[in-house]
Amino acid sequence: MFLRGHFDPNIPITVKTVKKSYRIIHKEIAVKNVLKAFLITLCLAVLAAFSASADEVTYRKHVKPIMDSHCIGCHGEKNPEHDGFIEEKEKWMASHQGMRMDTYSHLITYVAWPYTGAFMRRLDDGKASGTGKPGNMYEYLGNTETERQKNLNTMKQWVGHWNLKRWKDVTKEDLATLKAKY
Ligand code: HEC
Repeated sequence: MFLRGHFDPNIPITVKTVKKSYRIIHKEIAVKNVLKAFLITLCLAVLAAFSASADEVTYRKHVKPIMDSHCIGCHGEKNPEHDGFIEEKEKWMASHQGMRMDTYSHLITYVAWPYTGAFMRRLDDGKASGTGKPGNMYEYLGNTETERQKNLNTMKQWVGHWNLKRWKDVTKEDLATLKAKY
């Protein structure tokens, strides 16, 4: 019998042997096509994985710029730690100044623990709470409603699951849904 590039002179060239060799060639092409499709799928999957991680919302890339332009005027490095603020609350409130939130380490305490959900409760536009009343820091997210919604959306994506619960109500499953990547 003969194959592509391989001729066996002992096998006579008949209609049957020619048909058989065509069948073998077709099979080879089919296998090659399956391999090609597999490789293309693999490349696409790798590309998708890369672009997903490039789009991932992080503190450094997305949240800090919003904090810097909208919040740090009242929550900067000159402002006290949470408990320092509480100790001298009247003094700080009189000057409309809040507690420090200028680093990832500070901010995460208002997302996860100990001030669980404070970040979400204060920034919510009233939809997640179901009251329709926005948290009192929502207004600072932007100068227009469009800008506020856009920035709220970024904050929501960063947090992962927009959960308004306090520490005493939060479950281990709730905490597992937090993203808040650095
Ligand atoms: C004009 C000043 C000012 C700006 C701007 C401001 N805040 Fe505040 N923020 C305060 C003050 C004062 C408090 C404390 C009083 C209170 O609890 O409402 C506070 C409280 C908070 C709390 C509650 C902390 C806790 O212990 O529960 C969070 C969270 C917060 N701010 C987040 C933000 C974010 C995020 C921004 C930007 C989008 C922002 N704030 C912009 C003044 C400000």
